Amino acid sequence: MMPCRVMGMPGLIRRRRPRGGADRTPGSSFCEVPIAMPDKATLTIGDKSYELPVVVGTEGEVGVDISNLRNQSGAITLDDGYANTGSCCSAITFIDGDQGILRYRGYPIEQLAIRSTFVETAYLLIFGELPSRTQHAEFRALLSQHEYLHEDMRHHFEGFPPNAHPMAILSAMINAMGCYQPALLNPDDPEHFTDAAARIMSKVRTIAAASYKKSIGEPWMYPRPELQYVPNFLHMMFSKPNRPYEPDPDVVSALRMILILHADHEQNCSTSTVRMVGSAQANLYASVAAGVCALWGPLHGGANQAVINMLSSILASGETASAFIAKVKDKTSKIRLMGFGHRVYRNYDPRAKILKEACDKVLAKLGIHDPMLDLAKQLEETALRDEYFIQRKLYPNVDFYSGIIMRAMGIPVPMFPVMFAIGRMPGWIAHWREVALSPNPRIYRPRQIYVGPTKRDYVPADQRPL
Ligand code: CMC
Repeated sequence: MMPCRVMGMPGLIRRRRPRGGADRTPGSSFCEVPIAMPDKATLTIGDKSYELPVVVGTEGEVGVDISNLRNQSGAITLDDGYANTGSCCSAITFIDGDQGILRYRGYPIEQLAIRSTFVETAYLLIFGELPSRTQHAEFRALLSQHEYLHEDMRHHFEGFPPNAHPMAILSAMINAMGCYQPALLNPDDPEHFTDAAARIMSKVRTIAAASYKKSIGEPWMYPRPELQYVPNFLHMMFSKPNRPYEPDPDVVSALRMILILHADHEQNCSTSTVRMVGSAQANLYASVAAGVCALWGPLHGGANQAVINMLSSILASGETASAFIAKVKDKTSKIRLMGFGHRVYRNYDPRAKILKEACDKVLAKLGIHDPMLDLAKQLEETALRDEYFIQRKLYPNVDFYSGIIMRAMGIPVPMFPVMFAIGRMPGWIAHWREVALSPNPRIYRPRQIYVGPTKRDYVPADQRPL
């Protein structure tokens, strides 16, 4: 991996990055580097100036390293929502939001989506390189070996009400899964880590399918080890004991692509959550279970579900695309065009571009005409012509079209964020590993600017107003 270049601090030869030393382990992050250029940033607070080193990533991203700012000046930086804050150096995923570029470990998403498999992409993300044929076969064998749930976990499922949201079940069950492998709770050595990673990746689809079966009152279907990752999941979702399900190859390839497109997205809300929890040295199970909870929110992974709800309510009301867009623009309405906008992309999300094309192909192959797709396209066209969206650089994101494809596959809407979670699992695992491998690990602990009451004395209850 190419390290970040720290520029500036004339006279210094090397500079240690804030969170580590010179770890050369593939897939780990580090920013310790030879200093190449005499550039630095200068910050003036009152009548004092501070020189701050500039860090440059392998793709030329520039960051001002403020890790010593508080020591030097007593001040901290303030960045509500972290829109301008780099929380780490990472070697996993690169996004250029202005150009609409997404690469996993250097490989363009467009190539992986068409040419790779989900398991291979997962291996790439987690371990840093595409697997050799032997590594691929071994990892796949490990996934098959771990696809069953401990039978006792059935009891946990029985405790959930039938209408429980599958994301709640997923997060609880991933955490519970850790109880059955206490030896793997602190996977310090590489073999333990690989085993825990494979267990989670494999069992997450078994849990997901079981939660769906529970919600519709059907018996669980056991996984079939001879099936590959995606067909095995579809089998567990849609087979019945007396009616086997043969997945359509077009459905399999579309779902494989969806999972690849969701596999990582650098420091998004859920991944930052996983890194944050992992930085406290919490185990992999607990950390990714927290990631599921963060992903559930409608501004994040829950947006795919929210898009379908939005499209169906527009269709039900008979409203036109333009009328709905007018409501979105009216700030008093508090209505957002779900599946639009992104913190990082100020251009078309490359994943949405791939999914839009796939939508047409998959629905045509399955012989489905979905009025939701027509409406989605009308909304997109209307929005992209509108000054409100142009000025704010709002484009369709990954969630705008993914739900329409998943619906066509027969995946129920509440399961959409679960599909996102299955896809994102390798990314979370890779980020957890990156944090765990940090040679000089530090707990993630942002600061704040306190704006509450200043010191005041306690008032006994009988002296307070009634
Ligand atoms: N519809 C209408 N207006 C929007 C939208 C939208 N979808 N997204 C942003 N805006 C407006 C927002 O009101 C604000 O306007 P103003 O400057 O007048 O106050 C401006 O654009 C900037 O928005 P923001 O909320 O400050 O942007 P953000 O970077 O904090 O939020 C976002 C990013 C994804 C949460 C937001 O665009 C959004 O809520 N989108 C809808 C939910 C969605 O599709 N989420 C999925 C994200 S992609 C997958 C994932 O990462 O999970």
